[in-house]
Amino acid sequence: MATMFEQVPQAPADPILGLTEAFQKDAHPSKINLSVGVYKDEHGATPILKCVREAERRLLENETTKSYLGIDGFPEFQQHVKCLLFGAEHEIVTRSRAATVQTPGGTAALRVAADFIKQQFPSARIWLSNPTWANHPNVFRAAGVATETYPYFDAAGNGLDIAAITSALSNIPAGDVVLLHACCHNPTGVDPTLDQWREITSVIVDKGLLPLVDFAYQGFGAGLSEDAAGLGVLADLASEFIVCSSFSKNFGLYCERVGALTVVAAEAQATESSFGQVKSCVRANYSNPPAHGAAIVDTVLSDAELRDIWQEELGGMRVRINGMRTLFAKTVQSKGANRDFSFMQDQRGMFSFSGLTVQQVDALREKYSIYIVRSGRVNIAGITPDNLDRLCEAIVDVLDR
Ligand code: LMR
Repeated sequence: MATMFEQVPQAPADPILGLTEAFQKDAHPSKINLSVGVYKDEHGATPILKCVREAERRLLENETTKSYLGIDGFPEFQQHVKCLLFGAEHEIVTRSRAATVQTPGGTAALRVAADFIKQQFPSARIWLSNPTWANHPNVFRAAGVATETYPYFDAAGNGLDIAAITSALSNIPAGDVVLLHACCHNPTGVDPTLDQWREITSVIVDKGLLPLVDFAYQGFGAGLSEDAAGLGVLADLASEFIVCSSFSKNFGLYCERVGALTVVAAEAQATESSFGQVKSCVRANYSNPPAHGAAIVDTVLSDAELRDIWQEELGGMRVRINGMRTLFAKTVQSKGANRDFSFMQDQRGMFSFSGLTVQQVDALREKYSIYIVRSGRVNIAGITPDNLDRLCEAIVDVLDR
């Protein structure tokens, strides 16, 4: 008879991280990984930011203990998160309508949000954009929250299908949750305009839905405050919502796992009771957060000089990615593509929804060792001057398939 573990079936490979595992095993000398959302500089390296190095040096010098943090993490870090989201003077901050817990990455923030939703609103479902980050459904289902989808992307026009979004949202029953991407929509790179944020939020508020905002790319779209403008519109119209932040990308702190969950209610008292429940979800999950990544973020944001360096480095990453968008569209055209890719220049953040089919993506991997998520999502931040020609030639080759 099979043992208990012998009866366990194989898990399917993760649609994003599974590709990186396959990439690492690939022996091709010119392989290209455009799957996972990790920033690469023009030499193909994922650098440690200068501001981070300096913050780590200071931390190493001044650290006095490795004792536990509180369940919600460093208070100073929490305050920085609120200021990045809303600005220090916003009444959400000054009237204590927001409370933040430090989490191990944006994914843990989402999982804690999912646990909180399941415990406090057990019949609520969460509505995800179609498409969305491939891990969103996993995170919510793992917490027992049922997932549904609302339309988002207009494939023919490579833009936002605002009519379909608002019409779908207006049919969702009160008490359900709607997940929105604050900026740099993953995987499409297509965001609502501020007017469209107003339209979307108005429907959400009218229908009595709870917005949950995933904010993983602040600073990668147009700038720190520009990327928070959609959230600002939502904050003006909706009295209650949750924001899940990640500092993996904008501080390059991927492996340090630093993120945050911020709960906002109409009044400080409701914020406080929700915050207490969020903390019990944390305690039952990972108990309390790791310190190092959040200490780096706190050190950088607390020091005017380091903060300036950070903003400059973040701006540099954003400019490089946008430059690659233009260069990619031009180069693929010059190599003879039978399709216009100029729409990729209007998309924002790390990703572009290229329109490549599953067959074309598979052919790129099998024939050229070029790894792209099967939805056709390309990590533009992985394109470099050195791999651009090979990438464009391979894409032109597979376009007829
Ligand atoms: C991505 O979408 O590639 C990133 O958010 C990394 C991940 O964990 O999937």
